[in-house]
Amino acid sequence: MVYLIIKAFHLKLQPHRDKLPADMGWTYCVIWFLCLSVSECWKLLATHGEVQSPQYPQPYLPNMLQQWDLRVPKGYQVQLSLTHLDIKFSFGCYKDSLTVLYDHMILGKFCGQENSTGHPGNESIISQGNTMTLIFQTRDFAPELQQHVGFSATYDAIDMDECSQQDPDSDPLCYQICINIPGSYRCSCHRGYKLHVDQHTCQLSCGRQTFDKHEGHLASPRYPHPSPPSLSCKYIISVEPRFDITLNFTDSFHIDSMDTEQGPRCLHHWLQVTIPNREPMKLCGAKSPGLIDTNSNTVTLEYHTDVKGLSRGWSLDYSTSVGVINCGEPEPLLNGGVTFLSGSQNQHLSVVQYHCNEPFYTLPGGKNVTFTCEADRKWRSNQSSVTPTCVPVCGQPTKLISTYQRILGGSDAPQDTIPWQVLLTGNGIAGGMVIGDRWILTAATSVMSTGNQSSPESVLVFIGGTNVKTLLESPVPAASIHVHPEYNNPDFINYNHDIALIKLQDPITFSSSVMPICLPAEDATYHNGEMGLVSGFGLVQYGERQILTNTLKYLQLPVVDQETCSQSITSLAQSGDQVPDLTNNMFCVGVPEGGKDSCQGDTGGPFALRSGGRFWAAGIVSWGVDCGRQGTYGVYTRVTNYLNWINKTMQEN
Ligand SMILES: *[C@@H]1O[C@H](CO)[C@@H](O)[C@H](O)[C@H]1NC(C)=O
Ligand SMILES: *[C@@H]1O[C@H](CO)[C@@H](O)[C@H](O)[C@H]1NC(C)=O
Ligand SMILES: *[C@@H]1O[C@H](CO)[C@@H](O)[C@H](O)[C@H]1NC(C)=O
Ligand SMILES: *[C@@H]1O[C@H](CO)[C@@H](O)[C@H](O)[C@H]1NC(C)=O
Ligand SMILES: *[C@@H]1O[C@H](CO)[C@@H](O)[C@H](O)[C@H]1NC(C)=O
Ligand SMILES: *[C@@H]1O[C@H](CO)[C@@H](O)[C@H](O)[C@H]1NC(C)=O
Ligand SMILES: *[C@@H]1O[C@H](CO)[C@@H](O)[C@H](O)[C@H]1NC(C)=O
Repeated sequence: MVYLIIKAFHLKLQPHRDKLPADMGWTYCVIWFLCLSVSECWKLLATHGEVQSPQYPQPYLPNMLQQWDLRVPKGYQVQLSLTHLDIKFSFGCYKDSLTVLYDHMILGKFCGQENSTGHPGNESIISQGNTMTLIFQTRDFAPELQQHVGFSATYDAIDMDECSQQDPDSDPLCYQICINIPGSYRCSCHRGYKLHVDQHTCQLSCGRQTFDKHEGHLASPRYPHPSPPSLSCKYIISVEPRFDITLNFTDSFHIDSMDTEQGPRCLHHWLQVTIPNREPMKLCGAKSPGLIDTNSNTVTLEYHTDVKGLSRGWSLDYSTSVGVINCGEPEPLLNGGVTFLSGSQNQHLSVVQYHCNEPFYTLPGGKNVTFTCEADRKWRSNQSSVTPTCVPVCGQPTKLISTYQRILGGSDAPQDTIPWQVLLTGNGIAGGMVIGDRWILTAATSVMSTGNQSSPESVLVFIGGTNVKTLLESPVPAASIHVHPEYNNPDFINYNHDIALIKLQDPITFSSSVMPICLPAEDATYHNGEMGLVSGFGLVQYGERQILTNTLKYLQLPVVDQETCSQSITSLAQSGDQVPDLTNNMFCVGVPEGGKDSCQGDTGGPFALRSGGRFWAAGIVSWGVDCGRQGTYGVYTRVTNYLNWINKTMQEN
C-alpha cells in the first residue's frame, strides 16, 4: 500500500492515445486518493485531463491531422472546456478546425477566435457517454505567415444522470423510483413496496398471513381503492378439520381481465382460490363470485397484479360451519377397484376396501386393505396411507392341460392353458414368454438378424391366443430390445448367453388369455427327469415333411442330465459335424429315442416347470441338432443363471 503525493493534477494526453501507456508510470497519480495499485490509479486519473494542439502555445503547422480519444469511467460523461481556441477562421471551418465527436456524431466543429462565429465561447461540450473524440486538422499554408496557436482544453468526467436521460420509447430503468448515483443509478420503491430481486420492479408485500378465526374479512390492498400494481399476495384461511369455510364475496368485485367468448380470461391480474384436492380457480372479471362453499377447512387465496391493467379490487367475508366431513372419491386402483364396506358417500368414518382384479392381479401379500375417512378429510388405512398397487399373478393359468397325450411333434394347446406364450415375427418365426406387463423374455437368436440386433420396429409381438391367423391380426408394438451383452454368435456355433428381453410400448392388461409366467426363485433347481412344458408355433412333423403349425403346440419333456447331454454332443462332434459347445448356461430337455423336441420357430419359447402350483420359466428354447433326432436333445438357456441380468435390465429400462 502506497500513498502517492504527486504535484501534477492533470494528465497531459499525448495525441492519438486513448489509453495511458504503461511506461508513463505511477508518477501521474493524483494526490487525494489512496492508491492500492498502479492500475487502480489509472481509473482515477482518467476522470480529468488536459488536451492541447501540437506546438501549443506556438503557432500550429500546416497539413496536420491529430486525433485524441478521451475515455472516462463507465457511468460518467466527458465534459470538455475549451480554455483557449485560436484557429484560422474559414467559412464553416472547412479549412482548419477542431472537431469534437461522440460515437461518430459531431458535437461541434470549431475555428476562429473569441467573439467570432465558429468559436465555442465559454460553453463546455458534453458527450452523451463516457468517450469523446477530438480531431484537429490543418490545411496547406505557408507556416511563416501563420500566427494562430490552435487550442487548449481540459476535460472532466461528470456523473451521467441515467435517470433523466432515459429513452422515452423503451421501458423505464426503474419501475418506481430512479436514483442517480456516481457512475450509475439504482432503483427504489415507494413505501410498502419491496424491490424485486431483478433490482428493477417493485412488489407490494401483502397477505402472507393465516386466518384461523371462525370468521373474518379479507380485501385487496387499498380496497375500495384500485389495487396497486405488482402485487403478490397470499392469504391462507385454515380452521379445525371439522369446519367448512364459506367465502362471501361482496358485489363490488373487479379484477382486470380480457373478455373472450368463453368468459373473462385472467391475463395480468387474478385471484386464485385453492382448495385442497381440487383444481385451483382463477377469478377475474367484473362479476362477483358471490358465495363459494369450499367444503374444506383450508383455503388459499393468491392475489396477483402486474404492471399492466387496472383492478378495482375485491373484498370478502368468510364464515365457517360444522361441516360434513367428506374425503372425496377414494383414489382409483389400476387393475382393481374400491368397494364400500360401511358408511355413506365418502363421509366421515366411511370404510372402503381395495381389491385387485382376481385372479390376474393381487394385492401384495394377499391382504385386504381397508381405508377409513378420517376427521382430517383423508382416507387412512390401519396398515398404510398410500394407495396399494395390484401386482400381476404369475404362472397360474385359469385352465390347466388335463391330459398329456404322447403325440409325435406335440399336441394343440387349448386356449388359456399357456397364456404367457408369445409369437414373434419379423425375423422369421420365434417364440417368447410374457414375464411382466411390459416385458417379454426370449432368446437372443430370435431378435438378431445377420449378426445385428433387430430394431424394435422390425420385431412384431403377438400375445393372447393359440391360433396363428387370429393372433397375426393384432401385433403389440415393442419399445426396445435388450440382448445379453455377452451373446456373440455370428457363425451360429456359440449359443452361450442366448437370452434377450423385449420391452413393450404399452403395458398389457392381464386376463385369462394373457398372463405372465413366474421367474425362477433364486434357489430354483432343475431335477433330472422332471417333466416340463415346452410350447411354440414352430415346425412340426407332418408325415415326412416339417410344416409350420397354425396353432400353438405343446410337449411334455423331461430335463436331461447335463453329463448325458454333453456326451451326446461330443459324439456328434466326433462324427464330423460342427456342433456348438454346451455351457453351464444351458441345459438339455428331451427323450433319448427322439421324435419329440422343440424345433425351428420355437426358439425363444418357454420350457416351464411347475412347483407350488405355479409355472416358472426354467428354460428358453435355444438350439438343437436337427429336431427330434434320435440320441440328441434340445438345448435351452438356463434362466436361473440370468436373474440378476433380467432384474437389472428391467429396472434400468
Ligand atoms: C470580445 O467581446 C467582448 C465584449 O463584447 C470584449 O470585451 C472583448 O475584448 C472581445 N474580445 C476580443 C478578443 O475581441
Ligand atoms: C461566458 O462568460 C461570460 C463572461 O465571463 C459570462 O458573462 C457568461 O455568462 C458566460 N457564459 C456561460 C454560458 O457561462
Ligand atoms: C354475504 O354477504 C352479504 C353482504 O355483503 C350479506 O348480505 C349476505 O347475507 C351474506 N351471505 C351469507 C350467506 O352469509
Ligand atoms: C378380502 O375381502 C374379500 C371381500 O370382502 C373376502 O372375500 C376375502 O375373504 C378377504 N380376504 C382376506 C384375506 O381377508
Ligand atoms: C385393518 O383393519 C381391517 C378391517 O378392520 C382388519 O381386518 C385388519 O386386520 C386390520 N389390520 C391391521 C394390521 O390392523
Ligand atoms: C449390421 O449393421 C451395419 C449397419 O447397419 C451394417 O453395415 C452391417 O453390414 C450389418 N451386419 C450384418 C452382418 O449384416
Ligand atoms: C431385483 O432387484 C430388486 C431391487 O434391486 C431386489 O429387491 C430383488 O430381490 C431382485 N430380484 C432378484 C430376483 O434378483
